[in-house]
Amino acid sequence: MQIEELKLKNFRNYRELTLCPHPGVNLFFGRNGSGKTNLLEAIHYCSLGRSHRVTNDINVVKNNESFALSSVSILNSLGHRKIDVRFHPDEVQKKAILIDDKKIARFSDMMGCLCCVIFSPEDLGLIKEGPSQRRRYLDMMISQISRPYFVALQQYRTGMEQRNAMIRNYRATGTGNMSLLSAFEETMASPAAVIIKERRRIVGMLSDIARDTYQRISDTDEVFRLVYHSSVKEETNIEEILCRLFRENREDDIRMGFTSVGPHRDDLILTLNKNQMKQFASQGQIRTAALSMKLSQMKILKDLSGEDPVLLLDDVMSELDRKRRASLIGEISSYQTFITCADRNDVDCDKVQAVWQVRASDGEASVEQIQN
Ligand SMILES: Nc1ncnc2c1ncn2[C@@H]1O[C@H](COP(=O)(O)OP(=O)(O)OP(=O)(O)O)[C@@H](O)[C@H]1O
Ligand SMILES: [Mg+2]
Repeated sequence: MQIEELKLKNFRNYRELTLCPHPGVNLFFGRNGSGKTNLLEAIHYCSLGRSHRVTNDINVVKNNESFALSSVSILNSLGHRKIDVRFHPDEVQKKAILIDDKKIARFSDMMGCLCCVIFSPEDLGLIKEGPSQRRRYLDMMISQISRPYFVALQQYRTGMEQRNAMIRNYRATGTGNMSLLSAFEETMASPAAVIIKERRRIVGMLSDIARDTYQRISDTDEVFRLVYHSSVKEETNIEEILCRLFRENREDDIRMGFTSVGPHRDDLILTLNKNQMKQFASQGQIRTAALSMKLSQMKILKDLSGEDPVLLLDDVMSELDRKRRASLIGEISSYQTFITCADRNDVDCDKVQAVWQVRASDGEASVEQIQN
């Protein structure tokens, strides 16, 4: 899979941009604040329909403008496709997603059209921070290869919001309709089971790939492992077990005001030689582990979708030492890649097929291809 053309209108600090990237490795360099990450964000916007760094889409609309547009033309094994994502803050339906100029009815219809993996310095948080980053990592990866998973995530979230609203109301008033609460729990249990089963399956595959990748990059025999840690330990009857857990936790949940059990509380446990990484790992080991997780994500997406995902590397080169940089470049050479960095010397130029300079003047960005 490759991006043939990227077009932006009023996206962040881009008033208008048309860019035809190379199918291999593209390097974007420019001063801090020039608009490099904005470019990667725009690609991500067309892949998952949302920004990778903000939850409120209003931020992607260029200041003082009424809409933002990010559009990519892609080529995959099935042929050419165009994906447009427009955001109009003042319209009733704020976000419109078009595939080949036709508005899609459901958000899930865009999943997998443009598979991409983004790796940025914040991804070190995958190892160091709390479980929500690791759940997000799994959710973004699996949503791109399994539409039923993405739909299950949406259904589960809606069900949980309803259950949470009910238990808060119960807490405030002291009464509530228990049979309605039970009905919400049943509607949550079915998508929750889909989520847990799929996460378990993918983490099983991921753990083997990440272990090998880690050993290759670090040139050690240290064993990196990923294990999915769920509130449901059993392999079968997950739905019934969850319904029971929701019921058993009702009293505590009403007291706390939220749902305390379910896949939204699960975690990915990361160990190195059986020691929990969060407590034991050095900075270098953390970097290698985060890099291995991202490269394994690429491999899983490729193996399960049959398409090469597009790789977005935001400012990670300066974070890696020479050896890890070389490993990374070696591992990515078959993918279309967008690398950003402030200093173009951070990347070995003979591994780069196209070099682009990003500049901003008067708050507006422009991109120009230069000789490499
Ligand atoms: N909605 C917006 N409208 C106009 N400009 C914006 C908007 N959002 C962000 N910007 C501008 O975009 C610039 C930041 O762009 P970006 O994050 O892509 O920089 P960068 O090149 O990645 O920098 P760094 O090297 O520091 O990571 C800032 O100058 C910011 O003011
Ligand atoms: Mg940046």
